[in-house]
Amino acid sequence: MPSGPPNFWAFSSQRSFRLSLVGIRGKFENEMLKLPYRKLNALSLPHFARVKVWKNCEVNNTIFVWYHSESAEPDWQPQPHTCISNGSWRYQGRNEYLINCHIQDITENGPDVEHLNALHGPAIFLSGKFSWLARHVWTTYTKWTPNFSDDNQTDENEEAAKIGAKLNDVREKHKATVHLCHKLMILERFSIMESDVYAEQIGPGIIELNVKTLFGSLYILLTITPIEPLLQRVIHQFYSPPLLAPYANLHFLGECVMFERDIRIWNSKRFERHPILTREDRTIQIYRRWYSQFYSDHSPTYETSMKDLQW
Ligand SMILES: [Fe+2]
Repeated sequence: MPSGPPNFWAFSSQRSFRLSLVGIRGKFENEMLKLPYRKLNALSLPHFARVKVWKNCEVNNTIFVWYHSESAEPDWQPQPHTCISNGSWRYQGRNEYLINCHIQDITENGPDVEHLNALHGPAIFLSGKFSWLARHVWTTYTKWTPNFSDDNQTDENEEAAKIGAKLNDVREKHKATVHLCHKLMILERFSIMESDVYAEQIGPGIIELNVKTLFGSLYILLTITPIEPLLQRVIHQFYSPPLLAPYANLHFLGECVMFERDIRIWNSKRFERHPILTREDRTIQIYRRWYSQFYSDHSPTYETSMKDLQW
């Protein structure tokens, strides 16, 4: 079972936490590496001393490092969000969770539309005998769709397949999207807090949520980093226009409550390589085929990951 890291851009650090990536600050001076606790003569280092250089990039105030089990070069890059890179939207905060599950289970949430109203329907902060007062309603505008997969090709006519082949370089097959509508229904009659949620999955470790509300737009960057076999670190970073801060914080709270409902399931879920799926679950099958592009011949399995101290 592939439960080691797939080949992907992994979250490393936020810009404000950059020093934790480096660990210790040091600088070269007259061929001496000056560390806070001692000086090292660079010329006296043994010739076989090497450190692995990780390809990295900084996008959306976040540092990512490229991992590939065969050390291949990246064939795609994390994408910048205009309002974040030009500084016009403000960072509103972040959360961080450790979750005991397979990395694939977390992003399988997107294609699993059937769980939305079942798990995320009950209103936050209302329970027991007051639950009838309100509920969240999720409507799928466009189901989870990869930019390209073999499944798409069989559905299209031959001409479309040819055009698709020409677009091979631009279709960004590492991406998939889902478009949802969220409403809070009061007494099953009045709809409030309607929002449009456009989610983009970018490789195995990045999800971007662009949320359009009546008052303005929000951006949530979700990153997933495997830190041990079957242990994932998930971080949400929230951004919004400065004047939308109070509303963004309300959304932030709602997102945390909803996400914790998923975590309770992930923590007790077992990753099934060949699950029994119903007709309604067809998108999960498409998702799993799409996801397989991120594994290669030497991707670590659970067994090899447990033996290898490099994790
Ligand atoms: Fe969910």
